[in-house]
Amino acid sequence: MRDQRRVRHPALRGVALALLAVAALLARPALAEDGYELWLRYRPLPAAQATSYRAHATQLVLDAGTPTRAAARAELLRGLDGLLGQATGEAKQATRDGAIVAGTLASAPQLVPLKLDLRALGNDGFLIRSVTLDGHAATVIAANTDIGVLYGAFRLLRLVQTGQPLAQLDLRDAPREKVRVLNHWDNLDGHVERGYAGNSIWDWWKLPDYLDPRYTDYARANASVGINGAVLNNVNANATILRHEYLLKVAAVAGVLRPYGMRVYLSARFSAPMELGGLKTADPLDPAVRTWWRGKADEIYKLIPDFGGFLVKANSEGQPGPQDYHRSHADGANMLADALAPHSGIVMWRAFVYSNENPDDRAKQAYTEFKPLDGQFRRNVLLQVKNGPIDFQPREPFSPLFGAMPRTPLMMEFQVTKEYLGFATHLVYLGALYEEVLQADTYARGKGSTVAKIIDGELDNHALTGMAGVANIGSDRDWCGSTFNQANWYAFGRLAWNPAQSARDIATDWTRMTLSRDDAVVKPVVAMMMASREAVVDYMTPLGLHHLMGTGHHYGPMPWDASGARADWRPVYYHRADRNGIGFDRSRTGSNAVAQYAAPVAAQFDDLKQVPDAYLLWFHHVPWTYRMRSGHTLWEDLVAHYTHGVDEVKQLRATWSKLQGRIDAQRYAKTASFLAIQQNEAQWWRDASIAYWQSLNGLPLPAGQKPPARTLDYYKALAFPNAPGR
Ligand code: GCU
Repeated sequence: MRDQRRVRHPALRGVALALLAVAALLARPALAEDGYELWLRYRPLPAAQATSYRAHATQLVLDAGTPTRAAARAELLRGLDGLLGQATGEAKQATRDGAIVAGTLASAPQLVPLKLDLRALGNDGFLIRSVTLDGHAATVIAANTDIGVLYGAFRLLRLVQTGQPLAQLDLRDAPREKVRVLNHWDNLDGHVERGYAGNSIWDWWKLPDYLDPRYTDYARANASVGINGAVLNNVNANATILRHEYLLKVAAVAGVLRPYGMRVYLSARFSAPMELGGLKTADPLDPAVRTWWRGKADEIYKLIPDFGGFLVKANSEGQPGPQDYHRSHADGANMLADALAPHSGIVMWRAFVYSNENPDDRAKQAYTEFKPLDGQFRRNVLLQVKNGPIDFQPREPFSPLFGAMPRTPLMMEFQVTKEYLGFATHLVYLGALYEEVLQADTYARGKGSTVAKIIDGELDNHALTGMAGVANIGSDRDWCGSTFNQANWYAFGRLAWNPAQSARDIATDWTRMTLSRDDAVVKPVVAMMMASREAVVDYMTPLGLHHLMGTGHHYGPMPWDASGARADWRPVYYHRADRNGIGFDRSRTGSNAVAQYAAPVAAQFDDLKQVPDAYLLWFHHVPWTYRMRSGHTLWEDLVAHYTHGVDEVKQLRATWSKLQGRIDAQRYAKTASFLAIQQNEAQWWRDASIAYWQSLNGLPLPAGQKPPARTLDYYKALAFPNAPGR
């Protein structure tokens, strides 16, 4: 009563209302966000932080005389205005302390007296330095080219977004990979093969007349992490993309991407000279075929002078290729390389080949095919190799081609879309997977010959280098189908720029830019991301198992499946489990795939005592009762891994639920729902797999382990005719 009376006093009532309003504000969840802005949200910083940054961003000096510098200016203004909560002034030269001066030496001649050493920066690198300019304290972004300036602008913004100081800066950076490219598996009808984020963003129907503003935002996002190219169409290519009317559409996209330093590339169908040119053959040594491709290249470069080149999937999974004419992959690649060379274009020739007519272990086939061709490719050919010898599984050992072809530049192909890792819904941070592969030691030239050093050209002195990521981008409002999938696009770009970076650092930056700068959010979220990859390996394919997913759609567990059209598409081909044991024997006494690795690696993988647990069943067939390093039997450890995977997902959910209110409601809720799906499906993977293994080995469950929730028949009866992405 007394309290009520007190608040009736007008002055006090005002105070009480104000307090209530503040309380209501505090209780109100952060504004909803739909994820469209990715990691370029530029939301206002807390007041104190904004004030201290404002002292280093009092004005912008940037001659925006080219489209790329105009993009840099627009981004800096957009970013700084948003983050610092005020309009950033502009000037022709630094007139007060705290100016940001950006440009090349030609576009910002006031930088010349600083005698900056830009030599090591190359075309794409930049320098950010705190200097005194015209008597004022200033921050300089300098580069040899406009695109370097743009990359520097994004880096400066990242420093602010991630809470780094802007004082006493002396930062230089340049990419270690030359070609940093997304591969869109987008079909011309708008469907995305293995895409789980809606349809293709390329609206071929409305192009070239309508340029969706999304194309610009796509280019901004890519440039912000240094991605400098995009293959616009599916590797399972339709020759139609090479028709003149489609090339006009491609040219229109190229026009939007160009200011952001992105080149367009196309997947070329090897038989296009027959399909489009009416030739009777696509034989790469046939003069008419060579002339057709030269003409096609000339036509493309007339429309798109900076066209990047072709990506080719040949003689792989039914695609046409040079072997149809008894020619080699080198013959095919070189023919296209010759057509592109006058225009400085490149060929990215995929090494993803295997044949079910070849009875040899599928994991060995790419190496068997390509290793003898080392040194036979033209200088403008990159061989594009998937990270592992099979196909983007949750875990694979690195492909033995890395380190085996020193006279050929090898390009990494990672999958960003999660074809085998739970589609759009499962939270799996692929930075951890990429890092594991890049840091793997091939021993090609002794200890320390990491995959990263092979693909960045350091080990074998290659100037042409690259990394490709199979894009996870679609027409969904949040681009990638889930907030956390955005991190995989981001991490791919960062690692393509510099494959030596740490996945954890990248996750930390991404979280700060995308979700929150609050440590109470950043720490648990980064922990979730870092744990997520091992979790998915555990609940799907522990201890080196692989390719156990449903045939065709690749969704959900189907280790029992023996129905695939080809033996090498059937899970049973890969696990070889029976009453006594499980695993693919790739040791010297088995398929001898181990022999494709450098001697120290081969010895380790071959030896049951030395092979890492993570690759045990990849390289060895062992009895269910095999005694593991842990002291348990294989069966006990296998079941423990499955259960651990499910428990980890429960943990992800629990951690996320504690962040409610600290993350905007919309993204919080979507992730929470997806984690619930992931938990159910992790349980499904575990239970279905265990039920199946038990049907073979007849073993009781290890003590303390819960039996599968349903019968094996139940899991076998599940069907997914409308699974996305096929
Ligand atoms: C996987 C994927 C296919 C794709 C192929 C490739 O097998 O399921 O959809 O075409 O890889 O990389 O070429």
